[in-house]
Formats: sequence, structure tokens, C-alpha cells
Amino acid sequence: MRRKAESWSATNPGVDLSTLKQATKKLDHCRVIKIRSWKMDAVAKKKVSIRINGVEHSRDVEPRLLLVHFLRDVVGLTGTHIGCETSICGACTVMLNNTAVKSCTVLAVQANGGEVLTIEGLAEEEKLHPLQEAFWECHGLQCGFCTPGMILAAHQLLMRNPQPTEEQIRHALDGNLCRCTGYQHIVDAVQYAAKRMPRKAKAKRR
Ligand code: FES
Ligand code: FES
Repeated sequence: MRRKAESWSATNPGVDLSTLKQATKKLDHCRVIKIRSWKMDAVAKKKVSIRINGVEHSRDVEPRLLLVHFLRDVVGLTGTHIGCETSICGACTVMLNNTAVKSCTVLAVQANGGEVLTIEGLAEEEKLHPLQEAFWECHGLQCGFCTPGMILAAHQLLMRNPQPTEEQIRHALDGNLCRCTGYQHIVDAVQYAAKRMPRKAKAKRR
């Protein structure tokens, strides 16, 4: 070993063998990282087509992409919020094929071929949806972070049960958390909307 080092110094004057070894090690490490990232890039993308608020959106996405990220980061609809990403808070609630789902627990590929309604699709042009008006009128929000999810969850309730009792409203919204308004105003807002919404609006489907 020693002889090897000596012969190295003799044939490569001015180049330190241990420095060279360290540099080679670093280079190998970089190569491993690069190969890993190539492998990740090579994850086969899947084509998904989802009709969102009446508009078809087709993209190639990684199979692991969550629906909420598809909506926010790929399509740019940031009205759907992300709170916990663990299916607890309900901030990410949207309608998928007429069922309220927490979009942080659904993969974009699972929604392929489906129809999604987000908060952006609820109003008709300049006119707010009656549920949006009701939240406004009854002070059903403060910071508004939970509001899109609350409204979509309430939307499903009113589609299924146009005249819910207070208890039924509380039950329907128990998967949606609000950290600042207090729930009474939110319940009031849903009751307010239920009284004012024509049947047609309750059954609005995209
Ligand atoms: Fe989806 Fe909280 S972000 S449930
Ligand atoms: Fe702030 Fe509900 S209005 S979290």
C-alpha cells in the first residue's frame, strides 16, 4: 500500500493521493444522487382528463399526484385549500361526481374521467351561489380558510336534503373544521341558504 502511494507520488508530483480519493468519493456520491433523480423522473406519467367546473382539463401527471394538487398547482384553481393533508380538516373538500370528497385523499388518476365542482364553479358569472350569499349574510366566515370546504360540504347536504334540521347540518359538517368563526354562524348560514335556495340551485350539478 505504502509502495503504491510512493509510486503514485513519484509519477504524479504535486497531486495528493488522499485528496484525490476524497474527490473521487464525492463524485461517486453525486453520481448515485443523479441516478436516483433520473429514476424518479422516469416514473411513468399517466394522462388524466377531468372535467372541472364544466371545463375539460387533460394533463400528464405522476400517479402519486393528489387531486388537490392537481386542482391548485396544475390547473391553478387555488380556491380549494389545503389544511392538514391528512383527511381531518375538510378544507380541501370538492364535489367529485356529485359526492363531496376530501381532495387530499384522492389521487388525480382516480378522478380521471370524472367531474369536479370546486368553489370557483359555484357562482354563476357575477352572481354568488345562494350558499355563498348565506355565508356572507350570516357571518359564516372570518379568515375564510375553511369556507370553500364548508360550502361544498353544505352543498352536498342541500342536494340530498333540501330542508335539513340543525342537527343534520351539524352532522353533515362534522368533517370540516373551522378554527376561527365558531360553528353557530356556519349552521345559521346553511339554514339561511336552505330557506332561500330554489330547488334548481340545490340540485346544481356539474
Ligand atoms: Fe384535506 Fe385537511 S387538507 S382534509
Ligand atoms: Fe377561519 Fe373557518 S373562517 S377557519
